Amino acid sequence: MRLTCLLLLACCLAQAAHAVRVIKPTADELAIDHTAEKWKRPDFCGKMDCPRFTTKEHTDNWDVREYDAAKWVVTNVTGSKFEIAYTKGVSKLLKYFKGTNDKEEKMDITTPTLAEVKLSKQGGESKDKDYSFSLWLPEQFQTDTPQPTDSDVKVVDFPKTTVYVRVFGGFATEGTVMTETRSLQDMLDEDGRDYGEDVAWAAVYDPPQKLLRRHNEIHVPYAAKKSVVQDS
Ligand SMILES: *[C@@H]1O[C@H](CO)[C@@H](O)[C@H](O)[C@H]1NC(C)=O
Repeated sequence: MRLTCLLLLACCLAQAAHAVRVIKPTADELAIDHTAEKWKRPDFCGKMDCPRFTTKEHTDNWDVREYDAAKWVVTNVTGSKFEIAYTKGVSKLLKYFKGTNDKEEKMDITTPTLAEVKLSKQGGESKDKDYSFSLWLPEQFQTDTPQPTDSDVKVVDFPKTTVYVRVFGGFATEGTVMTETRSLQDMLDEDGRDYGEDVAWAAVYDPPQKLLRRHNEIHVPYAAKKSVVQDS
């Protein structure tokens, strides 16, 4: 009897949790299949290879994307200004791709550069901020990965990750990254969506010499609606 109740409860909870995650496939999802054979690289990746994802939801203001688990190359930079930290971080990552690794392997650069920005809500204006910059490793180096020889650079396994995505143009600066992050969060608030508030990622797709029609994105962590789960 008790077991039956528990099973029923577990079943209800599982259904409630499941209901939260049910997301209708969209035209985009059908177009962008994440399986390797069918993967169609989005136009905004340009000529470069980029990490696989599936679009789970599409709205005028934001998308939900699920990125496959994969290895990325990561470096941390502490600095006062995003733009300066970005230049420093990217140059370390580029060196790794150009052969500063144990196999002296030269790899084609991938896109986007993912810049992790910690969003401390109170905490005032501390001078130095911790940033983390990452590039996805090309498919052929996901296994048997060349190891960085610079101790500031690490190969990290990123788990499967679901994020809200908002696109913006121009150059990603400290100002635009913060403004766009806040505006995405405001839209999610209006739409009654829950999201992770501690961190945001700026995804920068284009090299600095590209001046027009630049494509950048803000990613914030997807979170299932808490209240729905608690109601059950
Ligand atoms: C970056 O910093 C975090 C937190 O301090 C640490 O866990 C991580 O290993 C660092 N990554 C690299 C590439 O040094």
